[in-house]
Amino acid sequence: MSTPQLTTLPAWGKLQDHYQQVKKLHLRDLFDQESDRFDRYSLQFNELLLDYSKNRITDETLKLLTTLASESHLDDAIRKMFTGEKINTTEQRAVLHVALRNRSNTPVMVEGNDVMPGINAVLEQMQNFTEAVHDGTLRGFSGKKFTDIVNIGIGGSDLGPHMVTTALRPYWIEGMHAHFVSNVDGSDMMETLNKLNPETTLFIIASKTFTTRETMTNAHTARQWLLDHCGNNEGVIKHHFVAVSTNTAAVKAFGIDTDNMFEFWDWVGGRYSLWSAIGLPIALTIGMENFKQLLNGAHEMDLHFRETPFENNLPVLMALIGIWYRNFFAATSQVILPYDHTLRLLPAYLQQADMESNGKRVTIAGEYLDYDSGPVIWGQPGTNGQHAFYQLIHQGTQMIPADFIIPLESHNPIGEHHTILLANCLAQTEALMKGKTAAEVAQDTPDSLVAHKVFPGNKPTNTILINKLTPQSLGSLIALYEHKIFVQGVIWGINSFDQWGVELGKQLAGVIEKELESDTPAGKHDNSTTGLIDYCRQHLL
Ligand code: F6P
Repeated sequence: MSTPQLTTLPAWGKLQDHYQQVKKLHLRDLFDQESDRFDRYSLQFNELLLDYSKNRITDETLKLLTTLASESHLDDAIRKMFTGEKINTTEQRAVLHVALRNRSNTPVMVEGNDVMPGINAVLEQMQNFTEAVHDGTLRGFSGKKFTDIVNIGIGGSDLGPHMVTTALRPYWIEGMHAHFVSNVDGSDMMETLNKLNPETTLFIIASKTFTTRETMTNAHTARQWLLDHCGNNEGVIKHHFVAVSTNTAAVKAFGIDTDNMFEFWDWVGGRYSLWSAIGLPIALTIGMENFKQLLNGAHEMDLHFRETPFENNLPVLMALIGIWYRNFFAATSQVILPYDHTLRLLPAYLQQADMESNGKRVTIAGEYLDYDSGPVIWGQPGTNGQHAFYQLIHQGTQMIPADFIIPLESHNPIGEHHTILLANCLAQTEALMKGKTAAEVAQDTPDSLVAHKVFPGNKPTNTILINKLTPQSLGSLIALYEHKIFVQGVIWGINSFDQWGVELGKQLAGVIEKELESDTPAGKHDNSTTGLIDYCRQHLL
């Protein structure tokens, strides 16, 4: 079914009218009038509780938003994704990260072939490999056990495994340490290598395409470092390097034995790939059983997403509320605030997941949007952000919807730390919602300062409570956001699974790289870029 023009849908027009009413309401008043708001607007799913009551919504808002989802044929789009239809139309690819964690193992067909046997074979290969590294069957060139894993990748081949490995620090296998090198800036590589012993270091070159300039440059540097430390013996490379890629020919050309290659498929988008062999550094660090728990948690969220009516469906609700703010309140950004030190990379991970997916300006049919699509995603862990940028969220001129995420049980329950963390998280959502009126401020404040001390409140938040951050609950949390992004893409009528916008910069960098290295004048550029290239050549090279 083709996507109808969003702004012509009946629910869209009704939401525009409804917005005129709701924009005048203050959350403080809604809570005063509705003492059961938390019960009505919160949902529990396994280890997660989503409280969406502190949003500028009423029953009518939710009714209209879920109608918008129905009118956008969301149910059909969900079915198409899960059944392997080629919904990434600009690249003619299915979108099947859900198959990677399909723990029920039911067949998933792409072009008449079941992808599950291939997925299971790679999982088994990962299992055998991680066990062999952990029990010392596989060792470094001098016979020592591996202690350090270095993942070399960028974007989706870095952010997912890096975020998950960091979040699951309490599950790290004793004696194993994970490192991630992504930036082509040599400092990233050198800071990592300087800490490592080549005899006990295993490199994973993670690249879907195996052509990404940054990753290939870093991979060659790591290769040379190893050779420099083993008497230039090329034979050691196969013991210390493995590859995760869809590009067998390029892996071979790099010199990695294809026995040491972990395959994945073109129907796995880079930013959705942590569930594939791109998750190898996760499995090596926390063990394969825990990696499977991560898959289980995501699979459970997949089932919830696929089977639950929109009005009780966590990803759908989060997506619709996001659309409410983006398209009706004109919110330009969404902040992610994990109150957990180990989740500190979640904002960066979601930044790629969301902005590379929904940063689009044309519909699937190639028509320019006459409404806004994906917001800017940003964030930092709490409580650090409170002492930095929360000022603008509380008292700035724009409305920034916020997601607060916190585990109830800490892996490091020392003293009062976790109670303080939890109290701050809950307090911020209350403060953002309620604000502080001029009357409340005025009691003990000179007139000249009253306006400065007023908090307008009415700032919307979601709160996600997680019983404990485990591989399983983390899997569910990530899948929740993946599906939220998917739903928004469906309603906006865009292709959330391509990323043509990253290409132009890559092409121009290739041209400029050559010019920086040559003595001839820079080629055809604008005057500014030519000036910068010439300046660099005169002063630095
Ligand atoms: O340049 C963007 C991008 O293609 C991302 O979509 C991807 O996650 C990243 O680069 C890395 O790509 P690859 O895994 O092919 O090296």
